[in-house]
Amino acid sequence: MGLLAMLGESRSDAPAAALRVIRHRLERRRAEGMWTFGVTSARDGEGKSTLAAQLALVLSESQRARVVLIEASMHRPSLARLFGCHVPSGFGFSVQLAHRMSGHAHPWAVMALGPALHVLVESEAEQGYPDALHSTHFREAIEGLGRVYDWVVVDAPSVLGSGDANVVENAVDGIVVVARSRATRGADLRAAVRQLGDRKAIGFVLWDGPDGTAR
Ligand SMILES: Nc1ncnc2c1ncn2[C@@H]1O[C@H](COP(=O)(O)OP(=O)(O)OP(=O)(O)O)[C@@H](O)[C@H]1O
Ligand SMILES: [Mg+2]
Repeated sequence: MGLLAMLGESRSDAPAAALRVIRHRLERRRAEGMWTFGVTSARDGEGKSTLAAQLALVLSESQRARVVLIEASMHRPSLARLFGCHVPSGFGFSVQLAHRMSGHAHPWAVMALGPALHVLVESEAEQGYPDALHSTHFREAIEGLGRVYDWVVVDAPSVLGSGDANVVENAVDGIVVVARSRATRGADLRAAVRQLGDRKAIGFVLWDGPDGTAR
């Protein structure tokens, strides 16, 4: 797995420029038929949701690209808060999955944050069903939405300590791993990459400066 980009702090426009570099690389992968991807990290709190949201935004700024951002990190939801949106009762992603698990197939209800950016996120006010990640409906959701959108970006759980990130890995075309250069332990990152394998690896994104220990 190679380095995709570093989100540095040195220049104020550096993160935006780095995100455009990642977008360019993802667009090349898209030409090879890869347009559903997950963002994960070795452990919790290493920047998955932030990067997934940033990538969804920059991809949706591309001409005519329609993007859906899916919150699969159901034990630690944060996207509704990050975007400042309220998820109406019954419309959290895992609640919609649970409806399907009990045989009620409604169309997916997504929230539009802009003309080209839609989100399917967890409610932080309502109890979710994190186990729904393990149902076949999760995979079907990614596949179904992949037929409707130009990009499906999945905010995945972290890798170590459970198989949840592998469930996402199995459902998407590619995986981006984010690491915090000064905080992520190199041993954790290597273990995470081993657990994921390189079948779907797109690359790493490092943030908070180039002088980190995790490469
Ligand atoms: N590129 C970045 N630049 C500056 N701060 C960042 C960046 N990415 C993440 N952070 C900060 O790091 C913290 C954790 O980020 P985030 O919530 O995205 O991580 P996460 O991996 O999704 O966490 P969790 O495992 O809880 O889902 C947040 O306070 C966030 O603002
Ligand atoms: Mg998160």
